Amino acid sequence: MKKRFVIGNWKMYIASPSEAKKFALTLTRRARLFRGLEVWVAPPFTLLSLLQPTLKNTSVRLGAQTVSAHKAGAHTGDVSATMLKQTGASFVLVGHSDRRALGETDALIHEELLQTIQAGLTAVLCIGEREHDHNGSYFEVISSQLSSALSDFPRSATRKLMIAYEPVWAIGKTAQDAMNPGELQEMQIFIRKILVDILGRESARGVPVLYGGSIEPQNAHLLMQEGGVSGFLVGHASAEIESFIEILSACKK
Ligand code: 13P
Repeated sequence: MKKRFVIGNWKMYIASPSEAKKFALTLTRRARLFRGLEVWVAPPFTLLSLLQPTLKNTSVRLGAQTVSAHKAGAHTGDVSATMLKQTGASFVLVGHSDRRALGETDALIHEELLQTIQAGLTAVLCIGEREHDHNGSYFEVISSQLSSALSDFPRSATRKLMIAYEPVWAIGKTAQDAMNPGELQEMQIFIRKILVDILGRESARGVPVLYGGSIEPQNAHLLMQEGGVSGFLVGHASAEIESFIEILSACKK
């Protein structure tokens, strides 16, 4: 049976080292109960090295929220994929809509994705339309984001690729505002079709497609059962230990 993934994107919700450590300790202890579920967390850069010893040799994987498009050099404030790897990160969220809103372009995201893969990290490519218009032009947005990010993507690296579909209009709200399971099912089928067009059937087959956008304990079970996705990228509800655990519990088989 296919693996399920739940990734917590802490954004800037958890900032204090002691709070982060306490969270990670509790999570590793309780995540053991959720066999068959991949539990990953993406704290801010400043907490990566601090959390590495706590998460090492546990089932919880550590990752970063973004990465530089450059390998090295004069890029003030940037953090390269190799630097991330040295902190103990094993995956990166690439092209998150919070970053796109700050001006990250498709071309830049393409470079970030290549840097991530070249460093041997797993890339969680985030895509999503800003508006859910009634004539369905959001499908074109998704297709174009995927084609641009994945152009020249080495097929040998598809084992290190995941897609997180996060419609921007559904982010940062409440469970009632998330996408409904029927529409999610339709969208994930569309994403899979585009992946086959870009990567070929063989390579595209194993690429997990996740959903993000107001996942909370109240909607996680239904969206997992009926949305057709391989898991979730969770924002605000991942920064509160009890709600994150409830989401994990709702996702277990
Ligand atoms: P929320 O779960 O807060 O809507 O955030 C989703 C998200 O952006 C995760 O990357």
